Amino acid sequence: MWSTALLLVIAACSVSATQRVAVIGGGVAGASAAHYIRQAIGEASIEVFERNQLGGRAQEQDCDGVLVELGASIVWHKNYLVKDLAAAAGLECVSPPSDGLLAVYDGKELVFEQSTWGIVSLLRLILRYGFSWWSFRSAPAAMFEKFTGIYPLLDNGTTFDRPEQLLKAVGLYEYTQASLFEYLRENYGSSLDLLAKELIAGVNKVNYNQNNMQINALAGHVSLLPATEPSVFKIKGGNSQLASRVLQVANATVHCPAAVAAVQQLADGRFQLELQKQAGHGCPAGDVQAGAGQCAESPSGATAPQPFDAVVVATPLEGSGLTFPGLHLPVIPARKFQQTVATVIKGAVRPSYFGLSAMTYSAVMVTEEAAVPWSSLSLLGRTASDNVTLWKLFSSERLPHAWTEMMFEAGYEVVVNKTWSAYPKFDPPEDMAPFKLADGLFYAAALENAASAMEVAAIEGRMTAALAVKHLRAAAAAQQAGQGPQLVQAGAERAAEEGAAAAA
Ligand SMILES: *[C@@H]1O[C@H](CO)[C@@H](O)[C@H](O)[C@H]1NC(C)=O
Ligand SMILES: *[C@@H]1O[C@H](CO)[C@@H](O)[C@H](O)[C@H]1NC(C)=O
Ligand SMILES: *[C@@H]1O[C@H](CO)[C@@H](O)[C@H](O)[C@H]1NC(C)=O
Ligand SMILES: *[C@@H]1O[C@H](CO)[C@@H](O)[C@H](O)[C@H]1NC(C)=O
Repeated sequence: MWSTALLLVIAACSVSATQRVAVIGGGVAGASAAHYIRQAIGEASIEVFERNQLGGRAQEQDCDGVLVELGASIVWHKNYLVKDLAAAAGLECVSPPSDGLLAVYDGKELVFEQSTWGIVSLLRLILRYGFSWWSFRSAPAAMFEKFTGIYPLLDNGTTFDRPEQLLKAVGLYEYTQASLFEYLRENYGSSLDLLAKELIAGVNKVNYNQNNMQINALAGHVSLLPATEPSVFKIKGGNSQLASRVLQVANATVHCPAAVAAVQQLADGRFQLELQKQAGHGCPAGDVQAGAGQCAESPSGATAPQPFDAVVVATPLEGSGLTFPGLHLPVIPARKFQQTVATVIKGAVRPSYFGLSAMTYSAVMVTEEAAVPWSSLSLLGRTASDNVTLWKLFSSERLPHAWTEMMFEAGYEVVVNKTWSAYPKFDPPEDMAPFKLADGLFYAAALENAASAMEVAAIEGRMTAALAVKHLRAAAAAQQAGQGPQLVQAGAERAAEEGAAAAA
């Protein structure tokens, strides 16, 4: 009896030795992973390695009193995980001002113009597109109904090694196997062709800078949700805080800027990270200024000192420079990213560019075939110092001067231009990398081929957190087993049980 009790104590001590988790990437996916690992294993040590800025592809900039989101800018109101994370981090979700009117431009003229009178807009919709809008209207909501099936799975700790399994479990996989264009043709014949080329393409260009032929039907439906149910929010003070504040609340140690060059597996199954040149020693997330954080220097070619029990790669491998020497990874399908340039211009739009006498629209989308180098234009607000309008344009390349001169009245000024590898170049049928790359090594940027959004990043983070937690619990149990033979059975069984209920 006595000796068993003693063994139990010893085993308990050795198991409580802090487990260490590395998260590579300090965007929404990485923050979500850190948050859900922390929820499941209160005492784990979580270290985040971010090579640029916390927030990932959510970054904002103050332009003379107007806080401009240059990357991920809005969240749909039913994106429950982003809402949960924001609430956990004490962040406020606010509605962006939505008092403006929308128009659609085909490169020569405005083909659709919203009116201040709802009924007039409706009549114009019917006049141009017939009743096709009506027949399509419920499609994004029907897709989302399936999408909501993901949440109970995440809540009860169901894990999937591959994104396809998750998508199949909720009935969304097929949406990723056809282009939006093919999907619409199959379900609506050619009745939606004009609507698809104009309004639908316009929305998809705003969200993904890609057309209906390229985009898969899932991403296409996701991007249309706010158009069919226009209720969106953003994080007060900037969307990048979703990552930085969640990491703070998760008590993660943040190394920023710190680029990981290699992940190596040790003989005992744990992982060693090798960092590129200088990197911060790491500090509590709260001490890192979102965007500019750096706490301390460490020598170049540094190796993070102690091995990690699990690693979550929460950044697209493409362009990350990450290598995995000695690890036999599963096939990771080649993927390209769509370059999108966000340009902020201070000045007045030339109404004549759109054939208008006054610029009455606050957002202009472009049709699929519009021969213009920009893909959306939207009013951001007015500068605090001199009350001049600020506009944001998206394009695939830097906008040539000749174009900005054509579009804006003389005296305009380019305030910001930022180039992003913004989202995958969709390529249906989509072929996705696994969430689980190896025992203890997980990938939280694999679902992005299905649809790219902050909510999807949060889902990837949570799924990989659940996988990592299962792994950590099994590793703890195995260690416990190694310490005291009498405890092998009990320990392994308990681990199996805990593993089943892991991470929520
Ligand atoms: C936060 O993490 C650090 C480093 O792992 C640890 O020393 C500290 O006790 C943690 N703080 C809380 C409140 O859990
Ligand atoms: C988790 O939830 C899903 C969907 O509600 C259900 O099918 C599954 O059986 C649940 N699994 C567990 C382990 O509770
Ligand atoms: C800024 O300019 C607009 C348009 O001319 C005007 O309606 C508004 O009152 C001005 N605001 C301030 C603070 O001057
Ligand atoms: C965009 O920004 C870069 C670097 O800030 C600058 O060199 C370039 O002139 C800008 N391009 C335009 C079109 O304003």
